[in-house]
Amino acid sequence: MKIIEAKTYEDMSRKAANIISAQVIMKPNCVLGLATGGTPVGIYKQLIDWYRKGDIDFSEVTTINLDEYRGLPRESIQSYWTFMHEHFFDHVNIRPENINLPDGTNQDAQEECARYDRLIMEKGGIDLQLLGIGVDGHIGFNEPGAAFELGTHCVNLTESTIEANARFFDTVKEVPRQAYTMGIKTIMQAHKVLMVVNGRSKAAIIKEAFFVQ
Ligand code: GLP
Repeated sequence: MKIIEAKTYEDMSRKAANIISAQVIMKPNCVLGLATGGTPVGIYKQLIDWYRKGDIDFSEVTTINLDEYRGLPRESIQSYWTFMHEHFFDHVNIRPENINLPDGTNQDAQEECARYDRLIMEKGGIDLQLLGIGVDGHIGFNEPGAAFELGTHCVNLTESTIEANARFFDTVKEVPRQAYTMGIKTIMQAHKVLMVVNGRSKAAIIKEAFFVQ
């Protein structure tokens, strides 16, 4: 594991975008695992900027997102599908057929999660997985202590995660109570993992997760 410190949010975003960009340049048809949340937005902005300048090409890239709310249709403004299109996909030359997120409207959790794991396998695995982390330590929607051996699965969101994500909804009541998420096993099978963290609110969990024995 390598820890790279950054001076500011912009500096962190640029450094992370550099790593993603290097991955795409080294392997133009790579599989990028992508994440939502406020933290990666600056990275997506930077990548869009470099794309516009002609420095990076996403035409052969496949993306596989970490998670999606269960029950929200793609078109919903709070779905991760919409989030990713607004913040990234709509602004670069990723092919629509190469974009993958769990289908929150498939009520058959087992079927949907199995489809997602199969898809990741068929694509040859994830070359680089981008991750954020929640203030309580959740990754994707895996809460701390989630079974390590789980692939994609359906989770009941905790009160803390529901509250943390309420800022994207009009009221806390509207936050879905369940989500489909890659499991820790799925994430750890990625060839490389890039976690981005910023802000004081994450300091305690980062200390606990990475620095306390
Ligand atoms: C959501 C996402 C996570 C993300 C987390 C933190 O719960 N499912 O993948 O890491 O939010 O978001 P932020 O970066 O806004 O703190």
